[in-house]
Amino acid sequence: MEIDVLTLFPGMFQALDYSIVKRAKEKGLVTLRLWDIRDYTEDRHRTVDDTPYGGGAGMVMKPDPVYRALQAVQASSATPGRRVILMTPQGRPFDQRVARELAAEERLIFICGHYEGVDERVRTLMATDEISIGDYVLTGGELPAMVVIDAVVRLIPGVLGSELSAEEDSFEDGLLEYPHYTRPRVFQGVEVPEVLLSGNHEAIRLWRRKESLRRTRLRRPDLLAAAQLTEEDRRLLQEIEAEERAQAEGNLQGP
Ligand code: ADE
Repeated sequence: MEIDVLTLFPGMFQALDYSIVKRAKEKGLVTLRLWDIRDYTEDRHRTVDDTPYGGGAGMVMKPDPVYRALQAVQASSATPGRRVILMTPQGRPFDQRVARELAAEERLIFICGHYEGVDERVRTLMATDEISIGDYVLTGGELPAMVVIDAVVRLIPGVLGSELSAEEDSFEDGLLEYPHYTRPRVFQGVEVPEVLLSGNHEAIRLWRRKESLRRTRLRRPDLLAAAQLTEEDRRLLQEIEAEERAQAEGNLQGP
């Protein structure tokens, strides 16, 4: 996948020089190109922002340097850049489904906004997509773009060590993931659940599915309500509910 980022702060993207994204770049599965929007200004002061028409506080990012940068970006590769993503808190909420959708593209172009806002014509003339990483306002689009790039890159086939590990992630089937354990078997008096040591693959699979359901029910009932559940899932949920009722009764009776 080819990824181009238009930003005022290319240095921030050093954060992607670690771990899995770094490995993906080294393996040639991802090419990341950073473009400094300031290089596409035409005045002596290299101005990228200006005061808002109509007045008001703050500065607005000018459209013309972004436009020239985007033309250079589009011309720099033979792969058509069909997705031009503006990072903005007003965008489509980012989630694992959007990550999968973007992971299927051959090329992604990100525009990182700054200041109080970006001139509306960047939105209407240049962006094909607008993405938000959550209902809070950051100082710029760089961290959000890195969040999206990280989530997308790990879904590209061959990037993760085992293809299975992405499929078992939280959210891939609409549920949160089951708890993980590694050595030591007893840590600070807390034991690893017996079933995980049993070597019984079917029992382990059922335990994991049940804990995944339990955790989602407890922490994200909204996800559970939207998930596609199997007959087995419904049976496991009934067991969980029965366990909870038994526990509540036990608590009422006291010691
Ligand atoms: N830029 C500033 N805040 C943002 C957010 N929450 N998501 C995407 N881009 C942003």
